Amino acid sequence: DKLVALVPAAGIGKRMGAGKPKQYLQLTDNAILGETLARLLAMEVISEVVVALAEDDPYFAELPQAQHPRLRTVIGGEERADSVLACLNAVNPDIAPWVLVHDAARPLITEADVNQLVAKAKAGQGAILALPVVDTVKWSADGHSIEETVPRQHLWRALTPQCFPTALLRQALGEALSEGASITDEASAVERLGLAVTLVKGRSDNLKITEPADLPLARWLLSQQE
Ligand code: CTP
Ligand code: MG
Repeated sequence: DKLVALVPAAGIGKRMGAGKPKQYLQLTDNAILGETLARLLAMEVISEVVVALAEDDPYFAELPQAQHPRLRTVIGGEERADSVLACLNAVNPDIAPWVLVHDAARPLITEADVNQLVAKAKAGQGAILALPVVDTVKWSADGHSIEETVPRQHLWRALTPQCFPTALLRQALGEALSEGASITDEASAVERLGLAVTLVKGRSDNLKITEPADLPLARWLLSQQE
């Protein structure tokens, strides 16, 4: 059985505020997206990568991985979930019964984390990498004053990759989007169906590059991994 990695890379990187989408900023000798794709393509468990790009993306073709034989591209959508669904529509569930969805903006993903995730996912109905919340969490409706403290004991931060059966995820995301639900990760679409999703504790260096300060931090984390 094949496992296909789906990489949403059609965002604009508004919070980064650079001159181009953040996934095309230089990380090492490669751009962020190139580094992410290189890592996924090098993993034994992944047979193919489908990446969602913005329409008229002028940057992708310049990546060293652009012509890789086990990589395909599709046109993404308005929201991340639309981009993931576009990837899913390019996968045959009979050939690839499981998919793994991974943010382009998380270039520090390791093979050990992916292997652990896939094993736990296949033992059930799906799994995600996640981290226990370490800070005390406050609830505020107006963004100024605190209404209450939310006990952090049961709180986790969802990371990617997230691994699900291909047909299940397509159904879950399709239904969630057609019902207008706000979906920021794959698990939330599957949770809506009442199915149990397994938490797999990931590495804390699996950073999502989001703001300008994350870029030097990611370079430093990368140097510590090697
Ligand atoms: N993404 C996508 N299609 C969208 C929006 C986001 O494929 N319509 C991708 C991004 O390219 C990124 C991943 O989803 O790899 C996670 O999204 P995020 O980190 O929020 O990236 P952006 O949406 O580009 O950043 P921002 O929210 O700051 O604009
Ligand atoms: Mg976004």
